[in-house]
Order: sequence, then C-alpha cells, then structure tokens
Amino acid sequence: MIVETPSKVILFGEHAVVYGYRAIAMAIDLTSTVEIKRLDNKIVLNLNDLNKSLRLNLDEIKDIEPKNFGDFKYCLCAIKNTLNYLDIEPKIGFEINISSKIPVSCGLGSSASITIGTIKAVSEFYSRELKDDEIAKLGYTVEKEVQGKASVTDTSTITYRGILEIKNNKPKKIRGDFEEFLRNCRFLVVYVEERKKKTAELVNEVAKLEYKDDIFKEIDKIIDKALKVDSKEEFGKLMTKNHELLKRLNISTPKIDRVVDIGSKFGFGAKLTGAGGGGCVIILVDENREKELLKELNKENIKIFRCKMVS
Ligand code: PMV
Repeated sequence: MIVETPSKVILFGEHAVVYGYRAIAMAIDLTSTVEIKRLDNKIVLNLNDLNKSLRLNLDEIKDIEPKNFGDFKYCLCAIKNTLNYLDIEPKIGFEINISSKIPVSCGLGSSASITIGTIKAVSEFYSRELKDDEIAKLGYTVEKEVQGKASVTDTSTITYRGILEIKNNKPKKIRGDFEEFLRNCRFLVVYVEERKKKTAELVNEVAKLEYKDDIFKEIDKIIDKALKVDSKEEFGKLMTKNHELLKRLNISTPKIDRVVDIGSKFGFGAKLTGAGGGGCVIILVDENREKELLKELNKENIKIFRCKMVS
C-alpha cells in the first residue's frame, strides 16, 4: 500500500499567527510517499532519498526514544504513537519505504508530510481507519515530541488539505468560493536558498520589534481582502503586499526579494512563505506569461516546483 501526502505553504499571515492573528495555509501537490509492506518479525525503515535504512525488532518499537534516531525520528515517532494510540501490539512486521519530493527545512512541512503519511500507512496496514481529526492530533503529538515545540499549521493543513485558517493554534477549514478560486490558481514554489536561521530564532527576532503589531494589523487587513477577491491579479497583488510587510519584519533576504520581484513582474504576485531567513517563495502564475516567468527565474540558481492546491 502506498500513501501519498501533500506539503503546505503559508499564503498569508506567517509570524502574525504567533500573536493570535490569522494565517492562511494551503496544501499543495508537492508530495511525499510512504509505502508499507508486510514483513515477518521485523520493522524495516528505508529513507530512499537519503539511502538510509534501519532495522528493529517488533518488541523494540513501543519503548523507543525517537529523538535518538536522527533522520528516522519523525517516522519512528509516528509509528510508535500510532501503535500506542490504537493499542496495537505488533505481531506481524512491516517494511516502510519513504520518498519525498519536498525540499527540507524550508517551511514546506516536509517532516509533517512524512509524519502524516506514516500515521495513515500504519493505521491502514492494521485495518484501523482513523478520522482526519485523529490523524491531525496524532501528527501534532509527533511534532511536539520530536521538536519539543510545534504549531498545528503543518500537520493540520497536510491532514485536512485544501485551505485552512489558523488562529490561536486552532485550524479551521475554509470552503466555498475561496477554495474554488484557489483550485483554479497555478503556483510556482521556488526553493531560493538554504535558511540561515531556524524558525524559533526568526520568531524571537521579530518579537523584539516594537512596531510589529502595526504590521500584523496590516497583514490581517490583507487577509480580509484576499478572502473576498475573485481575480488572480488582485490576489497576486495582495501576496506581494504581504511580502512588503514581511520585509519590514527583517525576515527576507536579497535573493528572496529578487525572486519575489521576478514573480511580481512576470506573474500575478509573489511572497516568501514561512518563517523566512531564506527558504521558499510562492509565485501566483499568470498562465499567459509563464514562459517569460520561467525564463527569468532560470537565470537564478534556484529550484522551481509547479504546484496547485490539493483537497
Ligand atoms: O517553520 P515555518 O517556515 O513553517 O514557519 C512557521 C510560521 C511562523 O509563523 C513563522 C511560526 C509559527 O509557528 O507559526
């Protein structure tokens, strides 16, 4: 059995969401896959992209300390917490093969994608179907246990898919016209550069800015407008406007700004997505000018992914 799981972008409201304002997140079709197959007496994990493998005895998994297992930690914690939640003593073993197209450590939720994929694969392997609410909660416990601190943004968006509003660490699915509008949008997610700082560091730096609240209020107004627009031109302009405000929080970089400028000039609009300090830009594509956009982007040393919303 193979489970394919999306990643996520924040369309509006990163950083503001830390202070009780809204953020809008979207699940995208840049995916990871978790394959699970029956295996006698062993649990084997293969991280195909990293060429790494781990073998465990069946009786080891439920008492394991995932944090000690490096790159395997999210997957191991997801297996352990799912088995514990479902009260399963594994009698048959399994092999899990993980592959991912999602760039890591750049705000796209690569670890949440693998976590949610593993929870679904393990529960379905034992024929115990979980509801989305249960999957999202379990995913959150995994991220919290592995990272020490977590936000529901990644695990919820990746579980419920489509568009979510996140406020006070609570997710709310947005349906209707706004979801339909975004279903017809085409995006480029551009991996611009490695992040020089971790999310927590960037959040702490923003915390020191006296004027941050004024910026968050402006971002909230942008979200109000974005939820009502029905033209891609307008929506793109609002993305670029959100980026201008993020720049004032000092979380952008010259290269990110350059890619955002290209995205705004040759697409409908663009912004950095996630905590900043490097990482990714999301561009709303103008289908009539996509060739020019790609031509300009290809002059930069970056990775480009064509994406759309998944629901
Ligand atoms: O870690 P990232 O890039 O997904 O950023 C998270 C967004 C922040 O608002 C900066 C932090 C948070 O916990 O919401």
